[in-house]
Amino acid sequence: MLLEGKVAIITGSGRGVGKAMAELFVKEGAKVVINDVDGDVAEETAEAIKAAGGEAVPSVTTVDTMEGGEAVAKAAMDAFGKIDCLVNNAGILRDKSFPKMTEDEWDSVMNVHAKGHFCCSKAVIQPMRDAGGGSIINVTSTTGLAGRFGQVNYAAGKAAILGFTRCLAIEMAKYNIRVNVVAPSALTRMTESIPGADLSTMPGPGMNAALFTWLASDATKDLTGQIFHSGGEEVSLWSHPERIVVCYNSGGWTTDDLINKFQPRLAGKDSRGYPQGI
Ligand SMILES: NC(=O)c1ccc[n+]([C@@H]2O[C@H](COP(=O)([O-])OP(=O)(O)OC[C@H]3O[C@@H](n4cnc5c(N)ncnc54)[C@H](O)[C@@H]3O)[C@@H](O)[C@H]2O)c1
Repeated sequence: MLLEGKVAIITGSGRGVGKAMAELFVKEGAKVVINDVDGDVAEETAEAIKAAGGEAVPSVTTVDTMEGGEAVAKAAMDAFGKIDCLVNNAGILRDKSFPKMTEDEWDSVMNVHAKGHFCCSKAVIQPMRDAGGGSIINVTSTTGLAGRFGQVNYAAGKAAILGFTRCLAIEMAKYNIRVNVVAPSALTRMTESIPGADLSTMPGPGMNAALFTWLASDATKDLTGQIFHSGGEEVSLWSHPERIVVCYNSGGWTTDDLINKFQPRLAGKDSRGYPQGI
């Protein structure tokens, strides 16, 4: 079994993508903390895993406070004595076109995604260092990678997670803690709530679980700082942003130089060729 003896915290795993990966983690031998701010689903999911013979504890708290992050880590330490893996999966949507978006819709989405990653990751670093290493798997979205109408708050939170992943992977390498990020795709309560989304081709949440399990396992012990997408039959590795047009001008650039020498080089180089995603 790929995760035999490992302890994993999965935030927001009372339902959806997180719940499906928790079920596969347990099948592969892991003990799991089922965190969710919604106490009913956290307890139900943990109970169902235990009823099927697995080991799980619920942790009912929000991820976007320092206390919440510490409580999730404490639940793992109290129940299982170590932490090998954290999946920062908890998430929300508060979609609105930008002119109509409120400060609260901005703050709540940024908090759960960007700050939630900070608070939970912070709380697991020392236990992972004590255990000799670990795997942190962050969760972004194609909205964070490519953008989508009505989701500036979500895109900003999910793009923040990409920067967070790159830096944390560099900083934690010396502790043998690897940090990767996944953009999943699945039919869940979250995607059902998006007005106008085409749900007919969306895969079930379980179709992302193998990629997360692989990243939690020792099979990927040398893999860090990478961006993956998964959903249905597709799995992909994404590039980090890279320069696509580079020009040099002796002595630097004036606005005239930009207009006459740089601008003509941009024709046909629009990098926004990505399909819209969620
Ligand atoms: N479903 C998709 O196609 C898709 C696409 C891209 C990214 N994602 C990301 O995948 C993750 C899981 O999404 P999902 O589709 O399973 O959604 P979901 O709504 O089914 O599940 C998310 C869970 O997170 C919990 N949660 C929300 N705020 C929380 C908080 N502050 N603290 C703890 N738990 C909290 C919710 O109660 C819920 O149970 C999210 O980060 C989401 O942004 C999903």
